[in-house]
Amino acid sequence: MNQVTNTVRFVLDGQIVEAQGERRTTTVLDYLREQMHRTGTKEGCAEGDCGACVIMVGELNAKGDGIDYVPVNSCIQLLPSLDGKSIKTVESLKKADGSLHPVQQEMIACHGSQCGFCTPGIVMSLVNLVQVVPQPSRQQITDSLSGNLCRCTGYKPIIEAATKACHKPELLKVEDSADLPLLREIQRAKTPTLSLEGDIIVQPVVRTRKGNEVVSPATLTEVADYLVKNPTTTLLAGSTEVGLQVNKQFFRPDHIMYLGNVDELRQVNETAAAWRIGAAVSLAQVEQIVAESYPDFAEVLRRFGSPPIRSTATLAGNIANGSPIGDSMPCLMALGTDLILRHGDSTRTVALDQFYTGQKQNVLKPGEFIEAVVLPKPNGKRVFRAHKVSKRFEQDISATCAAMAFELKDGKLHQVRLAYNGLAPSPCRAPKLEAVLEGKAPSEVTAADLDAAIADSFVARDGLRATWTYRSLVARNLVLEFIEEPAAEVA
Ligand SMILES: Cc1cc2nc3c(=O)[nH]c(=O)nc-3n(C[C@H](O)[C@H](O)[C@H](O)COP(=O)(O)OP(=O)(O)OC[C@H]3O[C@@H](n4cnc5c(N)ncnc54)[C@H](O)[C@@H]3O)c2cc1C
Ligand code: FES
Ligand code: FES
Repeated sequence: MNQVTNTVRFVLDGQIVEAQGERRTTTVLDYLREQMHRTGTKEGCAEGDCGACVIMVGELNAKGDGIDYVPVNSCIQLLPSLDGKSIKTVESLKKADGSLHPVQQEMIACHGSQCGFCTPGIVMSLVNLVQVVPQPSRQQITDSLSGNLCRCTGYKPIIEAATKACHKPELLKVEDSADLPLLREIQRAKTPTLSLEGDIIVQPVVRTRKGNEVVSPATLTEVADYLVKNPTTTLLAGSTEVGLQVNKQFFRPDHIMYLGNVDELRQVNETAAAWRIGAAVSLAQVEQIVAESYPDFAEVLRRFGSPPIRSTATLAGNIANGSPIGDSMPCLMALGTDLILRHGDSTRTVALDQFYTGQKQNVLKPGEFIEAVVLPKPNGKRVFRAHKVSKRFEQDISATCAAMAFELKDGKLHQVRLAYNGLAPSPCRAPKLEAVLEGKAPSEVTAADLDAAIADSFVARDGLRATWTYRSLVARNLVLEFIEEPAAEVA
């Protein structure tokens, strides 16, 4: 399969689709609507916010005997990233005898649709949920819909439809028995192709006449080798930033390298001290990893975008993108996270709090990339707290997100690590605030001391999402809240 050029191959409803001659930045949504005339999948915002374009993307499961699905915003996924996968659109749900999926039937019965524009996306989010959780709780249903906007119906009948659909568990699974053998057939080779001289050749999925290409390697060696030879390549992980840049800023990178097929980058390796999270591991997986050990971090991730965003978006993508309001970074910095950076055959470890050098600037050298994120496990003594403040609870960008880790020894705060987003050109630690807190009992910490340290640490700037007055007040109050609860526990 590595020899195919300019052809993206994926499985759709029992057939292999060969998309030929498409641009390297064609989105999955545009291909579905314009080339396949699957117009059930809608375009609302083209930026991952409204959910009208949600489809299900499937991959072979670990045993190779079934297909695992995730919900995806097809508007921000580039078509070449579908190579070797399968998809289901809303049109896939209707059976040969004309009957609809229980979610669709109940959406009709419960009056869950009015203008209908959002409905295919809502149906696909719910159908995806019930593949994994056949008896979802109300919260699981509402979480699954947090990235689907409906402006006419109201969510009550939609949630009711989802609940009632689950009364027919035997009908919830999508029909994909014909897809499975085809999906096996189109898997990409798992070993690098070598030239006669023994050099690695990374075959493109798409190559233009000008020589620009999208590659989708299967091994870490290929990734590292290609980047040394083509250091200006744009890495594509979950595409939740790059897809936006393509749609909204008409970004047309020369070379694109998709990381989602690299097994080594999709692994989470665990030691007694830490999780080593590969650069292509999705935020949805990270949410599961931290759920028990760091519930506040899991809650920040639950409010990160929506399920279709988190099913593809990665920690490494969030970190590399380096947005001042990136949500994972305060948590990761407070927890003492390191990054493994790779260039060719060599790696180096850089603490995340030393990674940024300015707004969207970092220490990565040409051809170097993030291979993994090393997140320490809890050691039993440290308290970890985090909270994201945004105007809306779900699917919104932070005004500020704060995270703090510390120990309480004899009732005093020790080894405090405090980090924020939204206050500086990049997410960062706040050493002057840490110094105010270090060695004090929570009751000795005053709002005035924290305010003075905040004023001394950051440049007062009003932003689009909040004024400085509001942000600095939130930054101080979150610290007071973080230390209040453990103090009550030890009292
Ligand atoms: C609707 C919507 C909601 C969002 N909500 C939030 C939110 O709540 N909080 C938040 O923080 N962000 C949010 N984002 C932003 C985005 O989802 C995150 O930044 C995400 O983590 C990016 O990861 P990705 O894998 O999709 O990155 P991609 O888009 O694939 O890549 C992002 C950047 O990182 C680079 N890159 C990717 N992997 C590597 C690597 N291994 N090494 C070096 N460079 C790399 C890419 O080249 C690119 O420049 C949202 C985005 C959308 C569209
Ligand atoms: S069109 Fe709005 S999320 Fe894709
Ligand atoms: S039914 Fe009109 S937007 Fe949902």
